[in-house]
Amino acid sequence: MTGSPKKTLLRVLAGETLKTPPVWMMRQAGRYLPEYRELRATAGGFLDLCYNPDFATEVTMQPIRRYGFDAAILFADILLLPQALGMDLWFVEGEGPRLNPVTCAADLTKLKGKDDIHDVLGPVYETVKRLSGELPKETTLIGFAGAPWTVATYMVAGRGTPDQAPAREWMYRDPIGFGQLIDLITESTIEYLAKQVEAGAEVIKLFDSWSGALGGSCFEEYALKPAVRIATELKARFPGLPVIGFPRGASGGYIKFADAGVFDGLAIDTSVPADWARDVLQSKVAVQGNLDPMLLITGGESLERETNRLLEILGQGPYIFNLGHGITPQGDPANVEKMLRVIRG
Ligand code: CP3
Repeated sequence: MTGSPKKTLLRVLAGETLKTPPVWMMRQAGRYLPEYRELRATAGGFLDLCYNPDFATEVTMQPIRRYGFDAAILFADILLLPQALGMDLWFVEGEGPRLNPVTCAADLTKLKGKDDIHDVLGPVYETVKRLSGELPKETTLIGFAGAPWTVATYMVAGRGTPDQAPAREWMYRDPIGFGQLIDLITESTIEYLAKQVEAGAEVIKLFDSWSGALGGSCFEEYALKPAVRIATELKARFPGLPVIGFPRGASGGYIKFADAGVFDGLAIDTSVPADWARDVLQSKVAVQGNLDPMLLITGGESLERETNRLLEILGQGPYIFNLGHGITPQGDPANVEKMLRVIRG
């Protein structure tokens, strides 16, 4: 740092309490913004945005220009990694992602190794590099990846599923083979994120959207252990690098993440009571969350009330204002402004 005050997000992740918390939103670059929809129509498909550094940089910048969020998150997707490992990936309009699935240990031999992913992912690193040059000096750049369990659920099912049954089934039937898949994703994710940091990402966030599907010892084995391994290795390579975990739906499992000692922040999903997060998590980690994205559709008095409630409950400790999950395409850009007025006064 050249004497300038450290960026707000980095200060909070280092344990500071700020009078006005930093704020950003999951999926802040996305379909609720007319400028995103316009560029996406020009680009072709979603993946054409992700793999084109001009487009990906531009869509990452759009919500920063419009709202001045304290952080920008790299525009990419958690499923680019399986694609870099050799899987076919496509998105069906109005439905979601599709991959040609890996369903047994023998299928793993068809995948590439952890060091063979960078040709495909090169444009992502280029986007990070451009962003770190273009972002306002006060804006923190967040790099990310899916956590191994969540990525595995898509690789095994070949699509999103309501209950992640295909991956859970393999995990119980063949723990050794499934463990090899988790290890491959874990090790590739470390290499992927290390390149993002080298290109200029200042914070790393790990998205475990489906960790809530893991019961018993499997939460520790497939959600906690790989996430800790990734955070530990990244911190060994880049001392002081802040890492945010997002074990969505983990309920009491959040405590295990907080106690692991390698996460500087934890993103809480909509189901986590804010006062519980304050009492149980916030003395150990910065807390990020967890406004219901529905409120950005409805707006009104409820939006104001719930925003103020979060500020009151979590604002007395290290706190990053965010949603409990991504803003949806139906979110109203005017309600985002309203939310920001409440937070920033
Ligand atoms: O938050 C951001 O703005 C950064 C970019 C980002 C995207 N996806 C862009 C995206 C991030 C961090 C993700 C993470 C991601 N991707 C997760 C974990 C977080 C979560 O939402 O639980 C998951 C599970 C995925 C996989 C994925 N990507 C799905 C299931 C879908 C289809 C559902 C949908 O919203 O359409 C996507 C598509 C996707 N990823 C879009 C965006 C902006 C929509 C693409 C479009 O049609 O323009």
